[in-house]
Amino acid sequence: MKAVILCAGKGTRLYPVTLTMPKPLVPVANKPLLTYAIETLTEMGATEIGLVVNSLDSPIRERLGDGLQTVGVPLTYIAQENPQGLAHAVKLCEPFVGNEPFIVYLGDNIFQDRMHALYREFQATGASAALALTQVPNPSAFGIAELDGDQRIKRLVEKPKDPPTNLAIAGVYVFQPDIFDAINHIKPSWRNELEITDAIQYLLEQGNTVIPYVVEGWWIDAGKPNAIVLANQLVLENLPFSPANNDDERIQGESAVSHRVVLGEGSRIIDSVIRGPVIIGNNVTIRNSYIGPYTSIGDDVLIESSEIEHSIVMCCCEICNIEGRIDASLIAENARVVRATAKPMTHRLVLAENSLVQLH
Ligand code: G1P
Repeated sequence: MKAVILCAGKGTRLYPVTLTMPKPLVPVANKPLLTYAIETLTEMGATEIGLVVNSLDSPIRERLGDGLQTVGVPLTYIAQENPQGLAHAVKLCEPFVGNEPFIVYLGDNIFQDRMHALYREFQATGASAALALTQVPNPSAFGIAELDGDQRIKRLVEKPKDPPTNLAIAGVYVFQPDIFDAINHIKPSWRNELEITDAIQYLLEQGNTVIPYVVEGWWIDAGKPNAIVLANQLVLENLPFSPANNDDERIQGESAVSHRVVLGEGSRIIDSVIRGPVIIGNNVTIRNSYIGPYTSIGDDVLIESSEIEHSIVMCCCEICNIEGRIDASLIAENARVVRATAKPMTHRLVLAENSLVQLH
């Protein structure tokens, strides 16, 4: 079975991180966000995956290549250079998908549920489409489903001002190929996008059956920095138990490293306290510091005389001599957060567009 992942979005809500790195490559527990989508789809039975990217030169392609060596499933890249909405992205997949049922997955969504039953139920009922749904506290921000007495979907509406239910469409759809014809019948929405929700509503209006699948556990639409940090926390909560091992030669001086800490090759913990769940990449040095729960640290990072928790630090960063604990932060590759020792005692900032510096 084929599946497609839509990852051509600009990721503007994650600026400045996504000015240089596409959102699907932002690491969650030291793995690109996109790899969670690929894992879920392969567990659902996908044997070939199409990635809709904004250019065939995308860094996503550079990183994952043909997929066989990197994620164990063949990947095909489909360019959406001029994005006009999710339905437009799906329509571009028609030559890749051909005349078979297929799954669509929104690339920035991450689920606890592996959704095995979603495709099974779609096949068993012979429906035209199946949608993952989840209850949300803010239904006006999503596509919303209304069910009938038989627990089938009766009506869908995109970002309603007056939501009929709190059942949101949660970023995974299964379709028969007749979705392509439905897309030909819809018009751009108020936000000037071809909405996949409108194409599915068209299927309903033509008398087709669309079935719901209510996802279990958490679901994150990881579009904003705090949502990425939360996804990182939820993934690290599932880190398997590993005992504390302070005899490890990588743990040196007066250090205390708790259970559920993954430590990469060539890394050193010197005179520091690490409280898991924490994941630390390769060639990282942590000296005279505290790393608290729900922190992911990429390769080649230096942390010295600082405290950090519940955060993502990407590769090649330097965090030194920071007073006060860093928390709930997303720090992209090569960033330096350091305390100057020379006078005058000023803050010196070299920031990219849309950066956030919150001082206490
Ligand atoms: C899109 C869909 C919406 C769905 C949401 C899930 O919204 O249009 O129906 O509920 O993804 O993340 P967007 O992220 O484009 O605002």
